[in-house]
Amino acid sequence: MKGIILAGGTGTRLFPITISVSKQLLPVYDKPMIYYPLSVLMLVGIKEILFITTPQDQKAFQKLLGDGSQVGCKFEYTIQEEPKGLAEAFTIGEEFIGNDKVALVLGDNIFHGNGFGSLLRSKVDVNGASIFAYPVKDPERYGVVEFDENNKVLSIEEKPKVPKSKYAIPGLYFYDNKVVEYAKQVKPSARGEKEISTINQMYLEAGELEVGVMTRGMSWFDTGTVESLDDATEFIRVLQNRQSTMIGCIEEVAFIHKFIGRDKIESAIDKYEKSKYGEYLRNLLK
Ligand code: G1P
Repeated sequence: MKGIILAGGTGTRLFPITISVSKQLLPVYDKPMIYYPLSVLMLVGIKEILFITTPQDQKAFQKLLGDGSQVGCKFEYTIQEEPKGLAEAFTIGEEFIGNDKVALVLGDNIFHGNGFGSLLRSKVDVNGASIFAYPVKDPERYGVVEFDENNKVLSIEEKPKVPKSKYAIPGLYFYDNKVVEYAKQVKPSARGEKEISTINQMYLEAGELEVGVMTRGMSWFDTGTVESLDDATEFIRVLQNRQSTMIGCIEEVAFIHKFIGRDKIESAIDKYEKSKYGEYLRNLLK
């Protein structure tokens, strides 16, 4: 399975912070936002990853993440000229995807929690599509999934005025190769975007859409507003300092899942110098 991280968009809701800096490179506590969704793809064993950014931000992402070899991965970069919707990820990424299955994660979504890795691994080898459901107070801000007591999906709606359930669809999706053809058929919505929810509706109509419910032990943040960005930062800070383990440490994930050995951790320690992040990696080797 290949992975795509969509890190385009103008981040207008965070202006002036994002006028000259990509939202997905902003700090969430002690590391750039993009580290968190990247670590999620790595957690399910995905090593070939395409970063889709705006034209002006591509260089900054490349400077931060390079070719991926430092974490035993292969990173590629491409651009989305204008923020015309999430569904475009699969047409922009068509060549990269080739004949494989593909996971999409949004560059501003942060996940953490007990059982999260195993929930993902249970959904990853999908024939059709797997999406997730997370209960929220304000489902009308998101894609919303309605399902019955057997987790059978009944409906998918994008930002419905009157949501049929309290379950938002987080920005993490697993698809088989048909997604490329489906994506080509998506027409722009009223807000002018090619919606990922349209793709999910196509899988639903084909009877090939599964949902994995994220339970109360799991946390999901999207960091689109100043408040939610601040919430995510606070969450990571409190949890990390209390438990002395890091969330979203890409070198640690690579090391634990045997993408890399000690030598690469040692190089990372040199790279991160005297930062807390570097110190954490030093302790990891001990
Ligand atoms: C997008 C999707 C929505 C999903 C959300 C998750 O919304 O369209 O279905 O629930 O990401 O972060 P947007 O960020 O474009 O408002």
